[in-house]
Amino acid sequence: MVFDIKGKIALVTGASSGIGFHYVKELLSNGAKAVTIADIDVTKGEESAKKLNNEFGGNKVIFVRTDVTKADELEAAFKTTLNTWKGLDIVINNAGIMNDANWELQIAINCNHVVNGSLLAIKYIGKNNGGKGGVVVNIASILGLQELAGCPIYVGTKHFVVGLDRSFGTPFFYNLTGIQFLTMCPGVTHTPLISEAGHFALPGLGNLAKELVDGLASMPGQKPESVAKGMITLITQGENGSVWVAEGGEPIYEVTIPQRQTLRKK
Ligand SMILES: NC(=O)c1ccc[n+]([C@@H]2O[C@H](COP(=O)([O-])OP(=O)(O)OC[C@H]3O[C@@H](n4cnc5c(N)ncnc54)[C@H](O)[C@@H]3O)[C@@H](O)[C@H]2O)c1
Repeated sequence: MVFDIKGKIALVTGASSGIGFHYVKELLSNGAKAVTIADIDVTKGEESAKKLNNEFGGNKVIFVRTDVTKADELEAAFKTTLNTWKGLDIVINNAGIMNDANWELQIAINCNHVVNGSLLAIKYIGKNNGGKGGVVVNIASILGLQELAGCPIYVGTKHFVVGLDRSFGTPFFYNLTGIQFLTMCPGVTHTPLISEAGHFALPGLGNLAKELVDGLASMPGQKPESVAKGMITLITQGENGSVWVAEGGEPIYEVTIPQRQTLRKK
């Protein structure tokens, strides 16, 4: 299905900095009408909104201070978006941390926020609730598609996103809501999430922090800009329920998840 970004309104969580900031920039470069940045970091959020408004001319970006672990704050970001821009078409649930040492917070951000963001999208733009439908992109990771010893709980959260999104991305939900659910799985991307990762491994487990740093360093890296370009391909061309990888600065590609019945060990 082809989706046109021109004139559309988006909300991106965790977009004060990192890859999320570049999603916002790329959406605007591709003709989005307006974008809301929902992030906990006020200083970077306000700076980023200002920078993008200067670059793209006029009032196209707002920052809404949002702790995505607080359901009421996330809902307020949706309401502010709708009140300000008079519409909403694209939701990117992007905020995420790699912090197995604080795994309850990590699950709250990487999993609960993605559930809430998906349900709020259905509530506010679902056809079943009088909306027009649209696109939700949930951010998983290549670590949603493979194991890694260094950060088992992070890996678990990203597998969660893949399963959640593929299930919301079934015909049942599309027919009900008119919303396409798409999954983006970035590979190792140069942001603080990666450069700081070694400080946030589970403690008391031998050389786990080194295992994590070495494991991440063994995979191809890329710039956030590259993932953001892939996001445009995903939104404009991705089929409902599809899962895509953006790795090593290469163009993104769709993955096929094998049917369970084919997985029996030989
Ligand atoms: N960097 C990578 O290599 C990589 C790879 C695969 C997936 N991802 C995923 O991409 C997403 C973005 O990662 P990134 O590398 O840009 O991270 P980052 O650390 O550079 O940026 C994360 C952003 O999320 C915000 N944030 C953190 N906690 C929040 C909260 N409670 N409420 C609202 N905002 C909050 C931060 O302020 C920051 O702006 C995450 O979901 C991450 O898991 C990243």
